[in-house]
Formats: sequence, structure tokens, C-alpha cells
Amino acid sequence: MDRIRIRGGRPLEGTIPISGAKNATLPLMAAALLSDGPLVLRNAPDLADIATMGSLLEQHGLAVEHDRVARSLTLSGNATNLEAPYDLVRKMRASVLVLGPLVARHGRARVSLPGGCAIGTRPVDIHLKGLEQMGAEITLDAGYIEAAAPRGLKGARILFPQVSVGATENLLMAACLAEGETQLINAAREPEIEDLARCLIAMGAQIEGVGTDRLVVEGVGSLGAATHGIVPDRIEAGTYACAAAITGGSVLLQGARAEHLGAVARTLREAGVEVEAVGEDLRITRRDGLQGVDVMTEPFPGFATDMQAQFMALMAVAEGAAMVTETIFENRFMHVPELNRMGARINVHGASAIVRGVPRLSGAPVMATDLRASVSLILAGLAAEGETIVNRVYHLDRGYERVEAKLAAVGADIERLPA
Ligand code: EPZ
Repeated sequence: MDRIRIRGGRPLEGTIPISGAKNATLPLMAAALLSDGPLVLRNAPDLADIATMGSLLEQHGLAVEHDRVARSLTLSGNATNLEAPYDLVRKMRASVLVLGPLVARHGRARVSLPGGCAIGTRPVDIHLKGLEQMGAEITLDAGYIEAAAPRGLKGARILFPQVSVGATENLLMAACLAEGETQLINAAREPEIEDLARCLIAMGAQIEGVGTDRLVVEGVGSLGAATHGIVPDRIEAGTYACAAAITGGSVLLQGARAEHLGAVARTLREAGVEVEAVGEDLRITRRDGLQGVDVMTEPFPGFATDMQAQFMALMAVAEGAAMVTETIFENRFMHVPELNRMGARINVHGASAIVRGVPRLSGAPVMATDLRASVSLILAGLAAEGETIVNRVYHLDRGYERVEAKLAAVGADIERLPA
């Protein structure tokens, strides 16, 4: 398994291009199941998860072409196989996003239950209850979701018991081809949802309330072809903002948008980091000391749970203390023991972690456990004295395109060590 070696202590200076958002690309690819296309997605990131979703859609019967030079994905054709198998779904939970489109377009689907992952049990009950409200019959059989709506889906008024990004995406896609009006109330407002809604509208869907927590969809008979530019990855941008901050440097994030960082921008400023829009880009600078700031993860526009591990690494070298509270997932502190091995002083109490800042971290061999935990170890390594080796970097490759190249280009001493 590949490892990444970092020698810390260099302030980052320069420009980092931000790729298209992983968590927008995945539902956008699933949306291709709603029409025979072609659906052309521009600014597509080159990531392991995107390849996995491509393989899943190909086994459903779609043609998927990923032009890595043009950075575009072209999806066309129709699903002929309505089953999403366990061996693909277990690799990437976002596979469950094929469920809504398949039932809406073909009246049936058999999708493996995604199962949990390192950060939590990750149920899909909200997805299933919403489809049942739209008239689908859902049964669970041998670890698979069997969904049937032979007479098609009907619009419904769906109130989400809690904000769910995936359930909002699944049901938004299903509602586009349902008969009549669907209301999605307490819908997630992440920028990736707005991006999906804009693409669906380009395909012919009728959606009101884009960007709000109440989406109203008038079903249509069919959807057609479209070309859509994928929104920049706000979590990648936030991650590299923390890299600039933790090394005391100044980095221009090409294509990053302050409004998509939500509370992350405000919290970085409170910690003493300059976050400044420059044209279409974002400049992140940290010259003076870092202050400890409390954060609590919340749905957008609150502080993103996908930024929690990265921010904790930053707080590990801040002055004073920071309370970090994770409200979205039940087990998203696996980076803590690894950061503590690098000299951080972090204590976990249930859903909260107290981070007491230290003047300096020390490089060490550490283990990546999930996507965002692994990148928080990279950030810690950038600031640490000495050498850090991050093992199991396949977690990293799921969500960060060419991470060592992007960081080396702004002065980091970082390289990938082949297995
Ligand atoms: C999406 O996951 C993202 N993944 C996650 O990013 C992100 O952390 C999460 O949203 C929250 O922002 C993709 O977009 C591919 P949820 P998702 O449904 O849709 C509970 C990353 O690092 N819940 O908003 O699975 C759930 O257990 C990944 O890029 C139910 O109880 O998240 C969680 O506690 C990690 N029942 C909370 O809701 C359901 O049916 C939020 O989950 C669905 C969710």
C-alpha cells in the first residue's frame, strides 16, 4: 500500500487549483440514469470514488467515458441491469444514490444495503421512507433493498426528520420523474445539492426553491441531455486553507468560493487566518499566531463535518484550547490517537474533543483510517518537526486529486513512497 512521506516546517506559498467537488460529481453521475443522455459533466475530478461510480453505472448498462485531459465525464445510454451489487456498493456508500433514479425511471431496483463505514453506521432509512411515501414498495432481502413502483412514483410531501444530504439527493432525483408535485421539507442545503438541482433543471426537470431547505418538484414525463459544469470542491478548498494556515503561509485557492465554505471561513478568521476573495479565487494567509476556537459540526451553512478532522489538526498547534464537537457522525474522531502520537494534546469526551494547543508537533509514522482523518494527518505532518509517514493513503486517493503534487507545487516537502 502506498505511503506518503512529509518533512514539515515549510510555510506554503503559491497557487493550488481546486478540482470539481467529489460530493457533487457522485450524485450528478447517478442522475444520468434518469435519461438516455448524453449527460456531459465538465470539471470532473480524477478520483478513485469517481471511477467506482463509473464502474457501477457501466454494470447497470450506461456508457461512461472519462476524458482525463479534458476533465469531462460523458454518460449515455439506459440501465438494462437494475441491480447494484454488494461488492461495488460496499466500496462506496454513495452507490445508494442509484436507487431513486432507477425506481423513478424503470419502476424497480435491487440495491445492496451500503452498510456502515469507519465513521458510523450510516443508515439509509430516510431514503427508504421517502420512496415509500412516493408509492414504492420497499422490502429488505438478503442484505439488498428491493424497491418496486410498477405504476411509477407519485409526488408526496416529505418532511425529513433530520437533514440528510444523500436522502435529499436520492429523493430529489426520484421526484423529477414522479407523477405530480413533491415537496422536500427540511432538505439539505449543501452546495452540492444546489449543483445537482441546477443540472436536473438543465435536463428538463421542474424544481423550485433551489438553495433552500424546501424543494418543490413538479414531475415531468422524461428528462433529456445536458452539459453541466461541476461546482468546485469546498472541502478540498477548506483542507488546503488549513494547510496554508497550519504552515503559516499564503496560498491562492483557484476556483474556491468563500460562500461555499459556510461557517468554515468565519471560524478560520476567528482563529487568526486571513480569508479573502480575490476575483474568482480565495487567498488564505496566516502570518501571526493561531488562536484556539470552538467548533460544532452542523449541516450547511454550519461548520462542515467533512472539515472537522482538518480543523482539529490546525487547533493542535493553536494558542489556548478549542472544543470540537461532532454532531453528525458517531465515530469521527479516529484521527485523534494518531494526532496525539505526533505530540498533540487532545482528549475525547463522547461527541466532543478538547484540543490543547502545543508549540510544535513531532513527525511520526501514522495510520490513515478514513478519507478526512488521513488528510488531517498530512496537515499535521506539514507543520511537524521532522518526518511523518502516512500509511494506507488509499483512503486519501478516494477524495483528493494528486494531493502530494498540489502541495509540493506550493513548497511542501512531500512525496509518495511506492508500497
Ligand atoms: C454525505 O454523506 C457526504 N458524502 C459525506 O461526505 C458528508 O460527511 C455527509 O453528507 C454530511 O455532510 C457524499 O456526499 C458522497 P447524510 P451522507 O445522509 O449523504 C444520518 C466525505 O468525507 N442518516 O447527510 O451519507 C447519518 O447516519 C463524506 O466526503 C440517517 O440516520 O450523509 C448521519 O448521522 C463522508 N438515515 C446524518 O444523518 C438516513 O437515511 C447525516 O448523513 C441518512 C442519514
